[in-house]
Amino acid sequence: MATEREQVGVVGVGWVGLVTATCFAELGHGIIALDVNEEKVESLRRGEVTIHEPGLSELLVKNAERITFTTSMDEVLDATRLLFCCVDTPPTYSGDADLSRVRSVVQQLPEDSEHALVMKSTVPSGTGASIRRDKPDLPYVSCPEFLKEGSAIEDFMHPDRVVIGADAGSEDAASAVERLYEPLGGEIVRTDVASAEMIKLASNAFLATKISFINEIANVCEQTGADVTEVARGMGLDDRIGASFLRAGIGYGGSCFPKDVSALKQLAGNSGYHFQLLNAVIEVNELQKRRVISKLEKHLGSLVDKRIALLGLAFKPDTDDMREASSLVLSARLQGEGAKVVAYDPVAAEGASSMLPDVEMATSPESALSGADAVVLVTEWPEFAELDWVAARDSMASAVLIDGRNYLDAETLRAAGFAYEGIGRPDAQNGA
Ligand code: UDX
Repeated sequence: MATEREQVGVVGVGWVGLVTATCFAELGHGIIALDVNEEKVESLRRGEVTIHEPGLSELLVKNAERITFTTSMDEVLDATRLLFCCVDTPPTYSGDADLSRVRSVVQQLPEDSEHALVMKSTVPSGTGASIRRDKPDLPYVSCPEFLKEGSAIEDFMHPDRVVIGADAGSEDAASAVERLYEPLGGEIVRTDVASAEMIKLASNAFLATKISFINEIANVCEQTGADVTEVARGMGLDDRIGASFLRAGIGYGGSCFPKDVSALKQLAGNSGYHFQLLNAVIEVNELQKRRVISKLEKHLGSLVDKRIALLGLAFKPDTDDMREASSLVLSARLQGEGAKVVAYDPVAAEGASSMLPDVEMATSPESALSGADAVVLVTEWPEFAELDWVAARDSMASAVLIDGRNYLDAETLRAAGFAYEGIGRPDAQNGA
């Protein structure tokens, strides 16, 4: 199906779609990228990227000649055979994935074998089968996306693996997708559609499980005097466990983990299976965001009228994404306790302000800390490690620091005069 330089269609230019379009263009392919949002298409035509993703803006500008942005599906269908579906599938109130945008894309596709739909959107197992029932002649490939925000381009260009799922009748389309990814060198996993769909959900649910597991270990470490960062180091050296995703903290967030864990739980439930483990993973994550409150109360007593500074708001560094960020729950809980919340984030503050009513947005970390009774490090932006913490301590009303990501050096901070507490690490009284 594909020639060496394929003309690729990308439908939906959110995070995944824009990275996919830009990276395929960088590999030399011509891209037609469609979005229903005219404003977004207009700004992308001007080379303006509205999301914060390191390197994306530059790569888009570099490859501008190879990418056409449009709102017309006819234009995409005329020019391309492979259509990558990258629209979002947000959770509904029931926890199921909302597939309305995917359905709307499918409806617009002709019932022929000239085009092929490549599903990058995260969809529940069975979606591919139901699309093929509706459009039996349309070749369908499941090609789930594993990129991480903040390192999306690096992840796209150097994948650990590329999963390509296709059933009988779609092999040519699957081979065309395989040829697109071959130059990137990751292991190609050719499988059936249902398994490809499940690989994506299971991978994210497993990583979320790892995080909730280490967070529970951290909570036990706080009782026993062990240091979770040492425990994770010791565990991670076992190849069967692996070192990644064992960083304890104040919970996972973002556009994928919360949504995919809930979608898998819901998918299992809908098919009659009660996925017990995932209930615990979700509950641990919710409680983890709230544990900071008792840590603060230990030092400050009642939080009524206390000024609490949050350093970082985004769900992780190098992104402005606030979806399911721990800061949302934490700031609301602090306000619920009567505290005044002031926050600083180098890129997420502007977008976050409408989601954080009554939170004062500071324009620098220094101004956030000035006069604060305590500071909570929520997102591990590198600039927080570079802060002049001695000057910060002098500007604060009391020097209490809760490091929600175990990011700062405990000894340095204690030497600077802070009552420093991480997550799952011995406090100064217990001794290291
Ligand atoms: C994730 C998956 O990693 C990616 O493969 C998938 O395609 C989309 O979802 P992303 O949401 O961008 O990517 O972020 P990731 O780096 O995986 O972090 C998710 C959350 O987990 C963040 O809130 C992060 O702070 C938290 N986390 C991660 C931990 O709390 N501890 C860890 O050890 C790792």
